[in-house]
Amino acid sequence: LSKIEIKLGDIPEGKNMTFKWRGKPLFVRHRTEKEIAAEAEVNISELRDPQHDKDRVLNPSWVIVLGVCTHLGCVPIANAGDFGGYYCPCHGSHYDASGRIRKGPAPLNLEVPFYEFPDEDTVVVG
Ligand code: FES
Repeated sequence: LSKIEIKLGDIPEGKNMTFKWRGKPLFVRHRTEKEIAAEAEVNISELRDPQHDKDRVLNPSWVIVLGVCTHLGCVPIANAGDFGGYYCPCHGSHYDASGRIRKGPAPLNLEVPFYEFPDEDTVVVG
């Protein structure tokens, strides 16, 4: 299937769920208020792949990224690592709760796929 429809009401705040989309893991993260505030405040001049959080999300409550480490393609672990977002155990890349690379060998942020919210409780990716 080229598109996937996900019901957001099934994903509690603070939780990341993994789906399969076009043969790859897809992360859908329901961020907490604390995570939203922390990611909005990051000084992007300190980032390896400088991107403001608002340019990575359509709605600050939801982070939608491919679960593919930009180093060599392992699947990162959610809610782990020094920045509380994702941690890739293969070679130690740490991503924040916006999916941005913060430490370790990965060169780029986790990729944001095309998606839209047809209604409040639904995201369609692809
Ligand atoms: Fe993730 Fe190397 S594949 S750190």
